[in-house]
Amino acid sequence: MSISPAFLDEIRARVAVSAVVGRKVKLQRAGREWKGCCPFHNEKTPSFYVNDEKAFYHCFGCGAHGDVIRFLCEAEGRTFPEAVEQLANEAGLEMPRETQANRAQQERLKGLLDVMAAAQNWFAEQLHGIAGADARNYLQRRGLLPETVRRFGLGFAPEKRDALKTALIAKGASEALLIEAGLIIAVEDRTPYDRFRNRLMFPIRDGRGRIIAFGGRILGDGQPKYLNSPDTPLFDKGRTLYNLDLAAGPARKSGRLFVVEGYMDVITLAQAGIEAAVAPLGTALTEEHLRRLWRITPEPLLCFDGDSAGQRAAVRAAHRALPLLEAGKSLRFITLPEGQDPDDLVRGGGADALNAIAAKAEPLVDLLWRSEMEAAQLMTPEGRAALRQSLMNRASAIADRPVQELYRREFLNRFDQLTGRSADRQWGRDRQAAPGRRPGAPWAPPPRVSPGTKLSHQRITKPRLPPMIIDSVGVGAAGTSGLARPLS
Ligand code: UTP
Ligand code: MN
Repeated sequence: MSISPAFLDEIRARVAVSAVVGRKVKLQRAGREWKGCCPFHNEKTPSFYVNDEKAFYHCFGCGAHGDVIRFLCEAEGRTFPEAVEQLANEAGLEMPRETQANRAQQERLKGLLDVMAAAQNWFAEQLHGIAGADARNYLQRRGLLPETVRRFGLGFAPEKRDALKTALIAKGASEALLIEAGLIIAVEDRTPYDRFRNRLMFPIRDGRGRIIAFGGRILGDGQPKYLNSPDTPLFDKGRTLYNLDLAAGPARKSGRLFVVEGYMDVITLAQAGIEAAVAPLGTALTEEHLRRLWRITPEPLLCFDGDSAGQRAAVRAAHRALPLLEAGKSLRFITLPEGQDPDDLVRGGGADALNAIAAKAEPLVDLLWRSEMEAAQLMTPEGRAALRQSLMNRASAIADRPVQELYRREFLNRFDQLTGRSADRQWGRDRQAAPGRRPGAPWAPPPRVSPGTKLSHQRITKPRLPPMIIDSVGVGAAGTSGLARPLS
């Protein structure tokens, strides 16, 4: 979206910065300005000033500076166009009429959306027709009910090399459009042919429920198992979450949003009554994915396989989230029994099986701690120093100052307990200071590391801590570190 500078000026002139900032920050009058505690760094005495006449905010503490649009982007995580649209609404301004180029672009996207919808229709017809017998059997074997198949718009792409192409061209689509939509493939010297052949088709919808891509699963074994649409003007893998449109409402209502790995997981969960589930599309979670999840719920539940690959992916997601954390925004991690995905779990034990594991989901801070402990060499001072350093580095990755500071303290507390320092010196104080612990919950400091503690050859034996921490990553018992858990 290109928005003219004049329109942006109009917004700045009409919306008082203090009105927008004031929703997030408690502001007091200070002469012709307003002041308050900066939302971008941790402070107790206000050094954050808002000047409505000049239409900007400025923090003398951390240097944060910008106009009302920037504030919404930085403090509320809006994208630029979203911030502009929101403020235009608030100011009672109509969004500028599209420029010529913009209109052409809209037309083009509309053409692509139409052709995707037509393709979905056609795939669905094939599934329910003669060609779809095997695919229907396959779905039945996997326990999908006809109503589920309809709800998710599943379809079938027949074997023939140009069946879809022929059908859609007969309906008026051009070859160029089909290529741009990623539905047919053009290779030099060959007539373009259907990308998806002999596959079960999963339409991928955007947040508004419009079909923007497809995933095609092979029936039975074979490679690749899933073939996905390429990135197109409609589809950007790194920003799309499968089923977000249907999951958002239920997730907001229940405050719970599962993030699983695959199409089938999402669909089986929905059939079992857990509608609030989404999946990335064969990629690791991106920052944009995380932002989208957080727009729906403050603590999405990420499900990972308990095997080592799954646990590595969990740690990667945790690291990726750090720079984006803010007060109240976090992640929880569900470790599935090794080799089982949510689809397997729910088909075996129903929604209850997943709900039971979800109830024990591990907070982000515990997962991070656990992964750092995995690599730690605790038996030497250098080893312990390296652990401490690594923990501090992790905390530094958090951009939000207050959250960063609390992570640093939390890690230091745990580190001190682990290495025994708190047992004789700091313990009493930290214990008082740590917020939010269940009142009366006893948590004796763990025994200090004694120099004689036995070493296992590869991994250093950790002091007697709960099994979660001693065991290798990948142990199934998610989320019960038993250590300090002041965040829960
Ligand atoms: P999985 O292999 O876990 O598939 O891949 P699944 O969803 O459990 O499917 P079933 O149960 O075997 O039918 C998880 C996700 O990774 C992407 C797809 O988005 C899939 O849903 N993927 C997987 C691909 O894009 N390509 C592949 O070849 C495999
Ligand atoms: Mn599966």
